[in-house]
Amino acid sequence: MVDFSDIKGFTFDLDGVITDTAKFHEQAWRQLASELHVNWSDELGNQLKGIGRMDSLNMILAASGEQDKYSEEEKQAFTVQKNTHYVELIQKITPADILPGITAFLAEIKDRGYVASIASASKNAPKILEKLGITDNFVGIVDPATLSHGKPDPEIFIKAGQLLQLEPHQIIGLEDASAGVQAIKAAGQTALGIGESAKSADPQLWVESTVEITLEKIEHELMISENKV
Ligand code: BG6
Ligand code: MG
Repeated sequence: MVDFSDIKGFTFDLDGVITDTAKFHEQAWRQLASELHVNWSDELGNQLKGIGRMDSLNMILAASGEQDKYSEEEKQAFTVQKNTHYVELIQKITPADILPGITAFLAEIKDRGYVASIASASKNAPKILEKLGITDNFVGIVDPATLSHGKPDPEIFIKAGQLLQLEPHQIIGLEDASAGVQAIKAAGQTALGIGESAKSADPQLWVESTVEITLEKIEHELMISENKV
């Protein structure tokens, strides 16, 4: 377990960490599932958290045994269809949609000289940060189009760490998805998990809700886990 004094930066997931777009992704996928007449379950919705567009579609089709039914072109068209639903849902996002505690935490880390970057699988991330008015809080955003593997592969968090110009042990990654927590840990960073899905991947630090995230809490939790070992 790392020492709090080693920490110099944060890699943030976006959907479900900074703003509750996770619910819009779920809604848009559910709509597509209904258009394709395939099964939907809350459990499936949960498993899709943090998973990229095409991987998500493949999981949805596989859940109904239809993974081989469509051509690549058809599947591409379905992901575009899902994104059209999603983009419609995010039109009305404003700074008021930043999750509780996150605006204060971003201000706190900025004041104290920490750096932050975005490790989101979403190609819509720049647009959403813009709508939330917090683009300038981040030194960079990993472009998911440049990735060979999605979460739980560590690649996106490794790249987000490189944007910070820090070593993995100097970084805390924030995630609400199980696949994301696995990715942070595999990148050698310290995972701060938020909510139930993140908990299942056993993050080093965990909070039930974003409202609890402060530097003081992180320092305290790191100290406790240090003493446990
Ligand atoms: C992740 C979301 O952040 O981005 C997933 O948790 C989503 O639900 C993925 O599928 C890809 O997003 P987009 O906006 O590029 O379709
Ligand atoms: Mg997320």
